[in-house]
Amino acid sequence: MEGRREPADTLGAAARSVCTPALGLHARARSARPRSVCTPALGLHARARSARPRSVCTPALGLHARARSARPRSVCTPALGLHARARSARPRSVCTPALGQHARAAASPRRRRDGGDGGARRSAFRRRDRSYPTPRRRASIVPVVADRSSSTMTQAEKNPLREGMPEERTASPAALVIFGASGDLTRRKLLPAVYNLALSRLLTGGFAVVGVARRPKPDFAQEMREAVGKYSRRPLEEASWSELEKGISYVQGSFDEPETYARLAAELERLDAERGTRKNRVFYLAVAPDQFAPIVRGLRAANLVAPPSHEKDAPFQHVVVEKPFGEDLESARALNRDLLAHLAESQIYRIDHYLGKETVQNLLVLRFGNTIFEPLWSRQHVDHVQITVAEEIGVEGRGKFYEKVGITRDIVQNHALQLLTLVAMEPPSSWDADAVRDEKVKVLRTLRPIEGPDALSSTVRGQYAAGIVRGEKVPGYTEEPDVAKDSMTETYVAMKLHLDSWRWGGVPFYLRAGKRLAKRVAEVVLHFKPLPHGLFKGAPGATEEPNALVMRLQPDEGISLRFAAKIPGSGIAIRGVTMDFRYGAAFGSSTPEAYERLLLDALRGDATLFTRADEVEAQWGFVDPIFEGWRTQNAPIARYAAGTWGPPEADALVQPSEGARGACGERTPPERAWRRP
Ligand SMILES: NC(=O)c1ccc[n+]([C@@H]2O[C@H](COP(=O)([O-])OP(=O)(O)OC[C@H]3O[C@@H](n4cnc5c(N)ncnc54)[C@H](OP(=O)(O)O)[C@@H]3O)[C@@H](O)[C@H]2O)c1
Repeated sequence: MEGRREPADTLGAAARSVCTPALGLHARARSARPRSVCTPALGLHARARSARPRSVCTPALGLHARARSARPRSVCTPALGLHARARSARPRSVCTPALGQHARAAASPRRRRDGGDGGARRSAFRRRDRSYPTPRRRASIVPVVADRSSSTMTQAEKNPLREGMPEERTASPAALVIFGASGDLTRRKLLPAVYNLALSRLLTGGFAVVGVARRPKPDFAQEMREAVGKYSRRPLEEASWSELEKGISYVQGSFDEPETYARLAAELERLDAERGTRKNRVFYLAVAPDQFAPIVRGLRAANLVAPPSHEKDAPFQHVVVEKPFGEDLESARALNRDLLAHLAESQIYRIDHYLGKETVQNLLVLRFGNTIFEPLWSRQHVDHVQITVAEEIGVEGRGKFYEKVGITRDIVQNHALQLLTLVAMEPPSSWDADAVRDEKVKVLRTLRPIEGPDALSSTVRGQYAAGIVRGEKVPGYTEEPDVAKDSMTETYVAMKLHLDSWRWGGVPFYLRAGKRLAKRVAEVVLHFKPLPHGLFKGAPGATEEPNALVMRLQPDEGISLRFAAKIPGSGIAIRGVTMDFRYGAAFGSSTPEAYERLLLDALRGDATLFTRADEVEAQWGFVDPIFEGWRTQNAPIARYAAGTWGPPEADALVQPSEGARGACGERTPPERAWRRP
């Protein structure tokens, strides 16, 4: 086909495209090598690379087939409107051209050399490359613990499903400085996570832990050993622990005294020299939010943090901050201002430990690593979405803290909204921290605000009364220590949310979170639309229960799909069944804890699973008006007995509104109810 060449000055000497402008079509070439050939009248194109043709068109049928080198990769059966691809005998794609669709089988990601969408895509590949160390990179990393073939590797970890998987990502050499090291979080979560990273050989020899807090801790390492023995997901092994212990030290001091930072600086220098931590630091602020600003000020004054450098191998300083990040939009903005006065956004890692959970990350893999789910993931097929974060426990002696917080601040503003953004987001352009977080922020911005009277019609807040949990009588919330008898703090909340977006217009997202509920469970469920026509209506057992895809985060991480199946026999009898995937059973029983993954990412400088400043502000920007609505509308607080699924008032929330129509416009809207997991 003859085409008109683009003016050379637009693309340098190497023309990249060949256009047929009248038809609004183009084909691309690189370095004078034509890559595509157009059949403009049919709106089709085929690509070529070097002199090797890659695609062949059958324009009349609107089809194309691809080839590489001399090996044909695709075979067309035009009469059937199909083509199939082959690569070394492995089929990669199947086309259904009538639908304008084709699906690709997953293979190892191929590196694109063409410009595509340019820098963003290229940098994404570079990042991805860094995540899986090359043999040469791995060789420079000295593992803290011995060989994986040691007894530390459980039978489950030797699961054949893990075979052939790339080596896991290892941390950069660094000192992990924990502010608040005498506290509960350090003991229960952080040191056990560090130990498990070491046990999995994900830490390097150049690693050290420095605890900082007010109380003297002459036996800090010994205390941490006991904590690991008690809270680690895997048993403590002497050999691994003693290696790690050599790099554990403690600096006593108050966060508001400059001497604390001077002592810390001296300790870090010692570790650089003796442990090879290479001036890299991760400062973990396991403290209340009012300590964030004094600490980063102290670090800056002592020159322990500096603006990030883009020089190769320049030392890094990352600051991890714990939740809660503020108590409303104003305080979150103030915290961001305080942190950003001394640090760049790229140095700040705001933790939401839900994002470190395997199933939460798997939600993205399920959506964007498969082809079969995403086409269903929209208003066309989804009737509604339910997000549940339910706990059996009460306030566990933390009444004073809980009175100020409540479940909406404690769970909804962060964890539940994180789940919502991951389930509702558009595909990011790459697996890159900012690309992923950009899409999550967009979801938060499409959330329809719940303001004024909507706080009554779209939410239910509740509080647990005395009841029975696991066969034991438990007191009501207002009978807990340090809780006001007339407390209006919510221990349960249910909400009906709408996303004003193309994908989700008209699909309600129901979200509930509560304490002292019937079961400890966290899950996201896509409820699909009901059948348009009840073909098996009269069949025994036919419930016509719509399909549901359940993504479970706890207690047992996994995914299940509910569908109807025929009961074996001569007639048609139907039963709803589930197809289950369980993380533990498939990949090994001991899934890494969320803190392991997040600590490793902070050590590696990967912020994808941390919350960005604008994201946290958008979360507060959504929940703040709900509190205001409850206040101005005198929203009641519904009581529920401990050990139940919350107040009955919440049931009405999931019913479709008057006049709503079901799938295919039928008059009776589908029945909806909260799932009983
Ligand atoms: N615990 C959890 O499971 C958990 C879970 C999620 C989030 N978080 C969050 O993590 C943070 C820490 O929680 P936590 O339970 O570990 O708190 P915690 O047990 O109260 O510990 C607070 C720590 O901060 C230190 N500290 C406070 N003020 C200080 C000062 N002026 N100078 C020096 N040290 C000071 C304390 O040291 P001394 O006691 O030696 O004075 C202690 O080590 C909180 O923001 C919490 O919301 C905790």
